[in-house]
Amino acid sequence: MMGKVIGEGVLIVLILMIVSENVEAQPKSILINCGSNASVNVDGRRWIGDMVVNNNVTLNSPGVVASTDALSGSSIYEPLYRTARVFTASLNYTIRGVQGKYFVRFHLCPFEIVDHNVNESSFGVVVNGMKLLSEFNVAGKISEKNANLQNSERNSSLFFLVKEYILDVDDGLLVIEFVPSRNSFGFANAIEIVPVVGELFDGSVGKVGGGNLSLAGHGMETMYRLNVGGPEIQSNEDPDLRRIWEVDSSYMITENAGVGMKNSSNITYALVNDTSVAPLLVYETARAMSNTEVLDKRFNMSWKFEVDPDFDYVVRLHFCELMYDKSNERVFRIYINNRTAADNLDVFVRAGGKNKAYHLDHYDSASMRMGMLWVQLGPDTAAGAAGTDALLNGLEIFKLSRNGNLAYVERYNSAGNSGSKSKSKVLWIGVGAGIASVAIIACIGVFVFCFCKRRRKESSDTKNNSPGWLPIFLYGGGAAVNSTVGVKGSNGNQKLYGSVASTGAGKRFTLAEINAATKSFDESLVIGVGGFGKVYKGEVDDGVPAAIKRANPQSEQGLAEFETEIEMLSKLRHRHLVSLIGFCEEKSEMILVYEYMANGTLRSHLFGSNLPPLTWKQRLEACIGAARGLHYLHTGADRGIIHRDVKTTNILLDENFVAKMADFGLSKDGPAFEHTHVSTAVKGSFGYLDPEYFRRQQLTEKSDIYSFGVVLFEAVCARAVINPTLPKDQINLAEWALRWQRERSLEKIIDPHLKGNYCPESLSKFGEIAEKCLADDGKSRPTMGEVLWHLEYVLQLHEAWLNMDNNNNNSTESSFSRVEVEQEHSNQDEEA
Ligand SMILES: *[C@@H]1O[C@H](CO)[C@@H](O)[C@H](O)[C@H]1NC(C)=O
Ligand SMILES: *[C@@H]1O[C@H](CO)[C@@H](O)[C@H](O)[C@H]1NC(C)=O
Ligand SMILES: *[C@@H]1O[C@H](CO)[C@@H](O)[C@H](O)[C@H]1NC(C)=O
Ligand SMILES: *[C@@H]1O[C@H](CO)[C@@H](O)[C@H](O)[C@H]1NC(C)=O
Ligand SMILES: *[C@@H]1O[C@H](CO)[C@@H](O)[C@H](O)[C@H]1NC(C)=O
Ligand SMILES: *[C@@H]1O[C@H](CO)[C@@H](O)[C@H](O)[C@H]1NC(C)=O
Ligand SMILES: *[C@@H]1O[C@H](CO)[C@@H](O)[C@H](O)[C@H]1NC(C)=O
Ligand SMILES: *[C@@H]1O[C@H](CO)[C@@H](O)[C@H](O)[C@H]1NC(C)=O
Ligand SMILES: *[C@@H]1O[C@H](CO)[C@@H](O)[C@H](O)[C@H]1NC(C)=O
Ligand SMILES: *[C@@H]1O[C@H](CO)[C@@H](O)[C@H](O)[C@H]1NC(C)=O
Ligand SMILES: *[C@@H]1O[C@H](CO)[C@@H](O)[C@H](O)[C@H]1NC(C)=O
Repeated sequence: MMGKVIGEGVLIVLILMIVSENVEAQPKSILINCGSNASVNVDGRRWIGDMVVNNNVTLNSPGVVASTDALSGSSIYEPLYRTARVFTASLNYTIRGVQGKYFVRFHLCPFEIVDHNVNESSFGVVVNGMKLLSEFNVAGKISEKNANLQNSERNSSLFFLVKEYILDVDDGLLVIEFVPSRNSFGFANAIEIVPVVGELFDGSVGKVGGGNLSLAGHGMETMYRLNVGGPEIQSNEDPDLRRIWEVDSSYMITENAGVGMKNSSNITYALVNDTSVAPLLVYETARAMSNTEVLDKRFNMSWKFEVDPDFDYVVRLHFCELMYDKSNERVFRIYINNRTAADNLDVFVRAGGKNKAYHLDHYDSASMRMGMLWVQLGPDTAAGAAGTDALLNGLEIFKLSRNGNLAYVERYNSAGNSGSKSKSKVLWIGVGAGIASVAIIACIGVFVFCFCKRRRKESSDTKNNSPGWLPIFLYGGGAAVNSTVGVKGSNGNQKLYGSVASTGAGKRFTLAEINAATKSFDESLVIGVGGFGKVYKGEVDDGVPAAIKRANPQSEQGLAEFETEIEMLSKLRHRHLVSLIGFCEEKSEMILVYEYMANGTLRSHLFGSNLPPLTWKQRLEACIGAARGLHYLHTGADRGIIHRDVKTTNILLDENFVAKMADFGLSKDGPAFEHTHVSTAVKGSFGYLDPEYFRRQQLTEKSDIYSFGVVLFEAVCARAVINPTLPKDQINLAEWALRWQRERSLEKIIDPHLKGNYCPESLSKFGEIAEKCLADDGKSRPTMGEVLWHLEYVLQLHEAWLNMDNNNNNSTESSFSRVEVEQEHSNQDEEA
């Protein structure tokens, strides 16, 4: 024994390992009493002090130990909870001689620790690479649980917590890594490693709604384990696996919907292999529907559980018919999250008789969206049973790992006694954070890809926050096409010639004219920079403001391509497309002159700048304008044109806030008659990219529809489409907003500036349109014409609401709406 006392009372630093106390061949439990130099017998088992030298349990780095004499509650584990190992730097327990599936339990009891505020401890746990906990605050979790207890149970309020996981160990080694959060610390009081006997978690689980899921390869966390209708079952009453079965009543939505019943005579397992699935004690008690005399029972027994969003769950239901000795007495349905998981369920039949213990597993992924899991049982009236009743004996809910992660970060207020209301949930993000990192990597990949492939680039509104014009690419049509040449430079060559000129693509400017207009490309006039080159604000034709885009000398854009694009775009003229005024092709310069859009990008008016927020009506009008532009592209020309880069930085607003589509740089002609798609390398902007296009590399107009759906959500939520600093489930706006929209709860995530200033019905319609645009399958997405039609309807709803609101009271909201720029949005602009 080589312990080194640092001095301060109970704190001891140590590093070590040695001799094990006993050795056996079968997989056996390894029980660790953390922060202790003594092994103790508790609950009939021997818990080895982690300072006791043991071959199979190694502590790799010095932590400190803490102990207490006084604990605030009582538990059979109290002797274990009086000591803890405390760590301010990462600390590993390495356990050897383990193989197979194990319950791994962490006993956490936050007693007062010298020099540390235990209420503020925060740490993570990683076991064999699987992240189990992250930024976990024990005291916060305990207060939350206690706050959720019903009054009747308050007398047994918790003072410790046991986190249970079910993990596979392949290579004989279990490395438990405790990692404190930055500037914080963590602790553990005991660790329990118990082999899973029997076939508890083998095979596949039926999914709610059809299909199977294999549990193999998943780590699991036990979220809930309830002895329905009976008392708490202590770990020593489940001698092999030491599971604790809680009382279920506090999870019931209406407790008296179900009455407890009990019959402990001669229960056996329906299947020989099931003997470890739950102790028979669980099956001896049950809950059935109240008021058995009343035949006409129209209610469910319902339990409600808080779960961590973004995970899938397995719900295990334990049954045993205790009362009837024939079939068809209780035939019921199981609903999980309001969906039918099983119907026509007669436990007597399924289990093969009375007093037969039987269980069913269901897998559900719906709760991942809600952070809530409901289990409901009600009579299956369609089954024509003699009685109308349902029965449940036990219930377990397991969380399944996703991409090697089981951790979910919850935050509590500093007092720790927040209760569920005030906590805000944040998901862990970081290296190995499953989807998040995949998404980020994919994001980087796509960016690199786009950057290399595309010669010209888009947005650079971050460069200066002025609302000015942003880099767009080629544009067709425009008012200035026929304007007279009024160039300042005297040596201007005003003749139109060459292939480009013959297309009638606007005016050909001389380089001298362009030099004059941009003060020889004065840096102070730069309003945007992209891969293509810089964009300058200038005045042409004696005072017509213009955006002048100059190809970078390094640009790969070839002259031929340049001319082709001008030609193609010159065919397009529309009030909602940014116009090309002209171009300059001289001394190997390739310069494009566009109409100047005084109010810059739609994005700059949504977020990330100090511009005043747009009203709901303005946003709708901008979306409608953009939709018109796109509709024209898709349907106006002989062959529809696919924009390929629909996003809020390519929707520009003129001085009257009329929205116009810009940047046809990526556009390609739409499908020819005999082809249904254009096959081409994937281009576009991440966050807006149609997943179907990405998968199949086939471009259709429906890819624009998808991107436009993202634009719609962006307009209403006013946030970046990809924001890697947000919690994992929020990084991608399209996914996040779609989740809320599917819950019909879009209003919960909209731009706070809109609150109270919009017609709720219009928002819900708007959300439905956006949702349809984001349909996975391109074929199910609406056409731009349909989108446009619906958006106009949304605007009408909102305008009606504004009028009504205005008549009822002249509130500040309605006067706010009044300040809007009036803008016609009739059919007049459908033609060029
Ligand atoms: C320690 O590990 C050895 C094999 O490495 C194993 O045989 C023995 O049972 C283990 N001891 C305990 C207490 O688990
Ligand atoms: C074990 O620790 C206690 C205090 O924590 C100390 O009094 C005792 O001497 C230690 N025993 C051994 C064998 O190290
Ligand atoms: C703990 O174990 C992990 C995995 O084996 C290892 O990466 C890490 O460096 C170890 N930490 C310490 C402090 O030794
Ligand atoms: C921790 O929180 C508990 C109640 O939530 C409180 O009684 C205790 O004083 C707090 N401890 C510290 C050190 O703040
Ligand atoms: C609460 O205390 C009462 C009386 O001491 C006891 O009968 C009851 O079982 C306790 N409740 C729980 C949930 O332990
Ligand atoms: C899925 O479950 C059904 C019913 O339990 C079973 O018949 C089928 O073989 C399972 N399929 C797979 C792939 O496990
Ligand atoms: C319990 O079950 C036994 C055997 O099935 C039966 O004889 C007895 O009546 C039952 N008791 C109750 C209270 O239902
Ligand atoms: C218990 O059940 C088993 C099998 O169902 C049966 O063989 C046995 O006789 C029963 N015992 C009693 C006391 O009812
Ligand atoms: C029980 O387990 C054995 C082997 O462990 C297996 O062959 C058998 O199919 C299992 N029986 C059932 C009903 O699952
Ligand atoms: C189930 O439906 C009820 C009422 O329709 C609703 O309040 C509840 O939120 C739903 N629960 C879940 C988990 O969807
Ligand atoms: C029971 O719950 C399900 C799912 O929420 C619901 O569809 C059904 O209408 C409920 N039954 C009764 C009788 O309330």
